[in-house]
Amino acid sequence: LSRILRRRERLSHLSSVEDALNLLRTSKRIIILSGAGISTSCGIPDFRSSTGLYAQLQDEGRYELDDPQQMFDIRYFRERPEVFYSFAKQIYPSNFVPSPCHRWIKMLEDRGQLLRNYTQNIDTLENLAGVTKVLQCHGSFSTASCLRCKTRVPGPTIEPYIMAQKVPYCGACREARDQEIEARRKQREAAKKSKGKGKARAWGNGDDDDDEDSDESEWGGGEPGIIKPDITFFGQALDSEFDECLFKDREEVDLLLIIGTSLKVAPVSEVLTHIPHSVPQIFINLTPVHHVQPDICLLGDADSIVTYLSSQLGWTIPPPPVVLHP
Ligand code: APR
Repeated sequence: LSRILRRRERLSHLSSVEDALNLLRTSKRIIILSGAGISTSCGIPDFRSSTGLYAQLQDEGRYELDDPQQMFDIRYFRERPEVFYSFAKQIYPSNFVPSPCHRWIKMLEDRGQLLRNYTQNIDTLENLAGVTKVLQCHGSFSTASCLRCKTRVPGPTIEPYIMAQKVPYCGACREARDQEIEARRKQREAAKKSKGKGKARAWGNGDDDDDEDSDESEWGGGEPGIIKPDITFFGQALDSEFDECLFKDREEVDLLLIIGTSLKVAPVSEVLTHIPHSVPQIFINLTPVHHVQPDICLLGDADSIVTYLSSQLGWTIPPPPVVLHP
């Protein structure tokens, strides 16, 4: 507590836009922690605002969810993958254009001031804006993996299923199952030849169909694996890259900039506690958060705030990339 109090004394002079401008002028290794609030101006709802995704899911009530967050819960997904796939097309990144915030992050990188952007967003708009030092803490739709055999496929592989609101099953699993069933059929044929027709069969009651059924049911238990986009669901651990990067970056960072997030979801929300107390923290958000105490809080629309800061600093936010739609 004394360290925090000492920190608060040391940084207590920081409070205003002018302080934020000075920090932006002089910081060379900025960590930006961003959330859904930097994509709302692109037409992608955030999660917890009154108009956010969770409120929409609650109001719509057409998905059998006890809680809107269940849509992104791994246990529920395993039981009812069709519910997520009936919804996923609403959040699938298709024709969105990066916001001024995304482009501002790219500008900081081009100026050599960005250490890393830790984004919680899965819309990959940072990539579209050209940011390379970005860590998608909660994954993205760029790839997808089979829950059973872990085979990873490019995201576009399952795009037709997402658009058709169908559950994609794993081709690799299905192939392995078919090969195994074929091998068992051949074994049965060989056993029949060597022992003659009259003997009891190794599987089922002698009816080929039952054998086929018993093979399928014995094959690792039912259907081939379900393919799930590589976005982190509640109940899943983050990729180890998150800890590895944070462990390294915490030693180098000289400014923490938090933009467009309610800081409600760990472990990303705990990044603030892993950063040395000596590093100033600037919070840019539409609404205040009360469970953390950043040194400088700039409340308002993120795009407008970063545009204003840039104008005061004489920086130019790059124009939106030309996004060619097929
Ligand atoms: N400018 C600034 N802030 C904004 C804007 C805007 N234009 N629009 C929304 N916000 C703010 C909201 O006030 C809110 O505090 O952005 C914040 C978004 O908070 P959440 O909706 O909770 O989204 P986020 O913090 O990114 O959620 C984190 O929760 O459900 C999980 O995996 C999901 O990555 C997500 C995680």
